[in-house]
Amino acid sequence: MDTLLYLRSFISRDSIVMSGLENESLLRDDIQPGIEPELGKFLGLLVRLVDAKKVLEIGSGVGYSAIWLGEAVKTTHGRVLTIDNHKRTHIEVVRNIEKAGLSSLVEKKLGNAEDLLETLSGGWDIVFQDAGKYLYPLVHEKIVKLTRVGGLIVADDTLFKVNPCVRKGLGDYMDRYNKMVFEDKRLYSTILPVGHGITISLKHGA
Ligand SMILES: C[S@@+](CC[C@H](N)C(=O)[O-])C[C@H]1O[C@@H](n2cnc3c(N)ncnc32)[C@H](O)[C@@H]1O
Repeated sequence: MDTLLYLRSFISRDSIVMSGLENESLLRDDIQPGIEPELGKFLGLLVRLVDAKKVLEIGSGVGYSAIWLGEAVKTTHGRVLTIDNHKRTHIEVVRNIEKAGLSSLVEKKLGNAEDLLETLSGGWDIVFQDAGKYLYPLVHEKIVKLTRVGGLIVADDTLFKVNPCVRKGLGDYMDRYNKMVFEDKRLYSTILPVGHGITISLKHGA
């Protein structure tokens, strides 16, 4: 058994809706892939570790990662806001979150993250970035400001630069993002090889 299969054999899903969406995504080519279940579990762990009450997700897709986050904030009495700019997937995310019984905990907003982020006030415990890759360096400063001191910023797909299967331009955005993060004195960061790579930053200074 390979490493991935072995570790996945331990990852129980927090909601039956997650398994349905995983199966569905294997059959569809009209939606962007969701996060890996091991990343979902890891996000669930982080929410519990920092006792996150306010979780912001940028890039809802059809709601797979939002369901992991929603299940996690049930245990912390928190809430999730998830943002996406795609009309059709927005309809799907609303439906899937409802199916998972999380509508009261997960707020969905349709719009460009660039614009919606400007309307938010700060104090977020966790910000999870999984939208357009060009966006990561573009909204970095805004995200740091929105995150509370002691909060976490988690960015997905940050090892794209060294993935030969990924278009060079996308890798370049991720490389620029990683450089910004590691040069940022307000953040204490590391990259982990989970899925296509995640960069996790603790905001320790304002
Ligand atoms: C990889 S998918 C998100 C998958 C989701 N996080 C999951 O794991 O289930 C990326 C999403 O980001 C959205 N997106 C891309 N650029 C965006 C932007 N500028 N503002 C808001 N959403 C954006 C896309 O519509 C797409 O649904």
